[in-house]
Amino acid sequence: MFSRAIVAALALSGPAFALWPVPKHSSTGNDTLFIDQTVQVTYNGEQVWWTPPYDDPGSPDFAETRIDDQQVTYTAGYVPPSGPHFTSKEIVQGGVSRTFGAIFQQGFVPWMLRERDSNSEPNLGGTRIRTLQIIQTQHDSANTFKPLNGAVNESYALDVDAKGHASLTAPSSTGILRGLETFSQLFFKHSSGTAWYTQLAPVSIRDEPKYPHRGLLLDVSRHWFEVSDIERTIDALAMNKMNVLHLHATDTQSWPLEIPSLPLLAEKGAYHKGLSYSPSDLASIQEYGVHRGVQVIVEIDMPGHVGIDKAYPGLSNAYGVNPWQWYCAQPPCGSFKLNNTDVEKFIDKLFEDLLPRLSPYSAYFHTGGDEYKANNSLLDPALRTNDMNTLQPMLQRFLDHVHGKVRDLGLVPMVWEEMILDWNATLGKDVVAQTWLGGGAIQKLAQAGYKVIDSSNDFYYLDCGRGEWLDFANGDPFNNNYPFLDWCDPTKNWKLMYSHEPTDGVSDDLKKNVIGGEVAVWTETIDPTSLDSIIWPRAGAAAEIWWSGKIDEKGQNRSQIDARPRLSEQRERMLARGVRGTPITQLWCSQVDVHNCESGNY
Ligand SMILES: *[C@@H]1O[C@H](CO)[C@@H](O)[C@H](O)[C@H]1NC(C)=O
Ligand SMILES: *[C@@H]1O[C@H](CO)[C@@H](O)[C@H](O)[C@H]1NC(C)=O
Ligand SMILES: *[C@@H]1O[C@H](CO)[C@@H](O)[C@H](O)[C@H]1NC(C)=O
Ligand SMILES: *[C@@H]1O[C@H](CO)[C@@H](O)[C@H](O)[C@H]1NC(C)=O
Ligand SMILES: *[C@@H]1O[C@H](CO)[C@@H](O)[C@H](O)[C@H]1NC(C)=O
Ligand SMILES: *[C@@H]1O[C@H](CO)[C@@H](O)[C@H](O)[C@H]1NC(C)=O
Repeated sequence: MFSRAIVAALALSGPAFALWPVPKHSSTGNDTLFIDQTVQVTYNGEQVWWTPPYDDPGSPDFAETRIDDQQVTYTAGYVPPSGPHFTSKEIVQGGVSRTFGAIFQQGFVPWMLRERDSNSEPNLGGTRIRTLQIIQTQHDSANTFKPLNGAVNESYALDVDAKGHASLTAPSSTGILRGLETFSQLFFKHSSGTAWYTQLAPVSIRDEPKYPHRGLLLDVSRHWFEVSDIERTIDALAMNKMNVLHLHATDTQSWPLEIPSLPLLAEKGAYHKGLSYSPSDLASIQEYGVHRGVQVIVEIDMPGHVGIDKAYPGLSNAYGVNPWQWYCAQPPCGSFKLNNTDVEKFIDKLFEDLLPRLSPYSAYFHTGGDEYKANNSLLDPALRTNDMNTLQPMLQRFLDHVHGKVRDLGLVPMVWEEMILDWNATLGKDVVAQTWLGGGAIQKLAQAGYKVIDSSNDFYYLDCGRGEWLDFANGDPFNNNYPFLDWCDPTKNWKLMYSHEPTDGVSDDLKKNVIGGEVAVWTETIDPTSLDSIIWPRAGAAAEIWWSGKIDEKGQNRSQIDARPRLSEQRERMLARGVRGTPITQLWCSQVDVHNCESGNY
């Protein structure tokens, strides 16, 4: 019965079957249902609603879309109380409010997804959706709002019958948020401007993610991003059912994080006065994430990538040295001294200030560990060696200290792969290892017993492929460097990202250790002007694979021909909701039968 429904859905798949990421199991029909503000929403039997209703534009809380300096910001009705205490009802109420804001305030007429002059719009006045019944079948715990990987069940079941009754059932409030996102994706705005409809009824969806960790790394050190840019990115992650924002918060280029007990870090380290995140900025970013089912994980990169020398001299090596190539991957260098008790005391003080502010919202803290070169210790007057075998026990001691402190403060450490694979550090089995160098790293880390996150630069580095930014030395830069490629060329096109899954090449017995992936936005040449177009909708390609896997229900590799119109549609939807992603095909291809835009290589 269910499989026949799936066959029917596949027959209809195409521009109309719009959901992104594609659900694990779904069947949809082709009946039209309208929805309007009279829909009654209940949560475990209790009525929930946005206050005030959207048809009261006089209220100051009225949902609004505001165009301001190229950035679109919006609020939609209900604003949950702030603070590190969350209730399931507030989370669900916020989700309901945003869902109806997305449908009624930010809906779009899908002319760009339909044949020109086609008469695909339904006639007004058909059956309306009258009720949305939301049922949460289990209690949330404190863990729900700052989950260890796999601790929250994000599954949901969504049904919309032909008579206009909708129901959403999930074991957690996070699952309800995921289901509400799917619900919002069913609807378009009618060109009359006063009606909203779906043409997919009846709908039956049973959905849950394949990987628990589905993230994006944003580097806020190489360029500065406003809190509103970060929050818009969190909105966009939630639209793609991604659940982690990894903030690469500090690096040698700038230290934008205010640490009240070590005030010089931001005073000397921010690019400019005011370009820093106060404790309340950070808390509001994290809260914003919790309300959208997105955990914000902060990274303070160490022992390399440390730019504190101007603020607190004497604790680090190699800051601003030349030639920088001997000590680091890009200027200015800087790294903590090893085997140094003052450094350990400094880190203790830093962590005692920062981590208790993170732990109400996050289960993890990332201690970095990428690109650390032994040569740094050549410049340390106490060590003057670059012998890795001599330095290895000192690095082990450093990590033992740092990770011990992270655990004492109630968080789980994360590290970049080199600490384990290049420096042979032995870390706790609670540690999550993040890979970026590609090759067999995932298999090796999984084999060593760590939980692994895939950020392979071959697939997931969104900054790649836009040309070299480092200045070329004198001489003959044209002939020596033509055509000026960057180190991780080519661009990771959405199709390339879509072809990859974190467990590719990992042996079956170790796949369980691979907990997901993160796409990475290193921001040497990215700032708020290009952020959305760099990330979206490309990151959604990874998000769909992380949610539903590379192999579809028929056991075939997921088809890019099926994905492309849906991803184009997702981009339009994100645009309507204020996220300025870039087109993935020419507009003409969105308007015609998908097969008309296949390449000529038969
Ligand atoms: C809707 O689907 C049914 C069953 O698959 C089919 O018979 C019918 O022709 C479809 N209607 C339209 C308007 O496509
Ligand atoms: C999540 O909950 C659903 C519904 O209760 C259940 O079917 C599914 O097996 C659960 N998933 C996991 C990974 O426990
Ligand atoms: C380390 O520094 C020396 C100079 O002291 C340099 O010759 C060598 O290339 C550097 N090693 C690396 C890996 O950059
Ligand atoms: C490491 O530090 C300890 C204590 O500060 C010191 O005794 C030891 O000599 C140092 N090791 C090296 C190789 O410098
Ligand atoms: C790490 O282990 C490998 C393999 O045993 C060895 O070749 C390498 O020298 C070690 N590196 C360090 C820094 O200990
Ligand atoms: C999926 O594609 C890969 C190549 O990218 C191929 O090796 C594999 O066999 C395909 N799997 C299926 C089930 O078709």
